[in-house]
Amino acid sequence: MREALEKIGGEARAAIARAGTSADLAAIDRRLFGEGGEISTLLRGIGKVPKEERPAFGAAANRLKKELEEVIAARRAALVSVEVEAEMRGEGFDPTLPGTRFVAGGLHPITTVRRELEDLFTSMGFDILDGPEVELERFNFDALNIPPHHPARDVFDTFWCESIGLLLRTHTSPVQVRAMERLKPPIRVLAPGRCFRHEDVDASHEHTFHQAEGLVVDRGISVAHMIGTMQALLRGIFRRDLEVRLRPGYFPFVEPGFELDARCPFCDGAGCAVCKRKGWVEILPCGLVHPNVLRAGGIDPDVYSGFAFGLGLSRLVMLRYGIDDIRWFMSGDLRFLRQF
Ligand code: PHE
Repeated sequence: MREALEKIGGEARAAIARAGTSADLAAIDRRLFGEGGEISTLLRGIGKVPKEERPAFGAAANRLKKELEEVIAARRAALVSVEVEAEMRGEGFDPTLPGTRFVAGGLHPITTVRRELEDLFTSMGFDILDGPEVELERFNFDALNIPPHHPARDVFDTFWCESIGLLLRTHTSPVQVRAMERLKPPIRVLAPGRCFRHEDVDASHEHTFHQAEGLVVDRGISVAHMIGTMQALLRGIFRRDLEVRLRPGYFPFVEPGFELDARCPFCDGAGCAVCKRKGWVEILPCGLVHPNVLRAGGIDPDVYSGFAFGLGLSRLVMLRYGIDDIRWFMSGDLRFLRQF
C-alpha cells in the first residue's frame, strides 16, 4: 500500500507539472479526486490495510491528498493567468472565420400585430383570454342574444359540426360570455383568435380570419370609455392619432351598437383606393353590452354596464401594411411572408 501511495504521488506530481492548460489540469483533478478517482479509491481502501499499519497509512494518504490539492491550486492559478492574458491580447480569436448562420423563421404579420395589441391592452390593465375555435352554439349565438330563429343567424355563414350544437366560431364574441361566467367585475379582457365563416372567398373575404374581442364590464361604463379605448388602440397600431366617427350599427348583443370608422390612414381622408374614396375605413364594430348578454353571463345589468368591440384583426393588419388581398394571409407563400 505504501508503494501504491508513492506511485500515485510521483505520477500525479509529474502530470500536474506537465499540464499545459487549465482544461488539462481539470482532467487530472478529476482523475485523482473525482468519483472513483485514484486518491478517493485509496482512502476508501484503508480497511484492507493491516490494523497496525492503518494509522501511519491514513496519515500518509491524507498528507499526499493535501499536498496534491495545493500543487493543483497553485498550477491552476498560474495557467489561468496566462490564459486570461492570451485572451486579452486577442490570441486564438480568428476574425476572418465565417459566422455561424442564424437559421430562424419569421413571424406572420398577424402574429406581430396580435402581440402588439396584447402588449398595448395589457398595459391598460386588460387580461388576454383565449376561447375555443370549435364553439358551442349556445356561446356563439344564444347567450349573445341571438336565439335559434333570429334573422341575425343568417348574417353569419356558419360551418356547423356534425355533432349537434357545435360549430366553428363565427366571431370571437362567445369569449365575452365565457369571460363573464368566470370573472367578476371589473372585467377587462382582450380575446384575439381565429374565426371561420362559410364565405365565397375573394380579395376581402376568407373562410378563416382573425378578430380580437374586447370586453369591459364595471359600474358606470359608458360609450365615452369605449371611444377612448378605441382611440388608444388605433394610436397604438398606427402610431399616430386617427380621427374616429361612430355610425349606428346593429348587433343583437350590443345596445346601442355602432360601427366605429377611422380616418383612412393612407390618404388622411382625401379618398383613395383603400377606403374606396370614402376617406373613412370601417374597422371596429362595437357597442354597450346588451343587458340580456350580461344576464347570460351571470352579471346584474342593473348594477353593471359594459362595452364590447370586435376588432377585425385581419383587416387591421391589411391596413397597417397596405396588403390588398386577404388571401395572402393563409397562402403560406414565402414571397409574401418574407416581406415582414
Ligand atoms: N362579433 C361581431 C362580428 O363579428 C362584431 C362585434 C363585436 C360587434 C362586439 C359589437 C361588439 O361581426
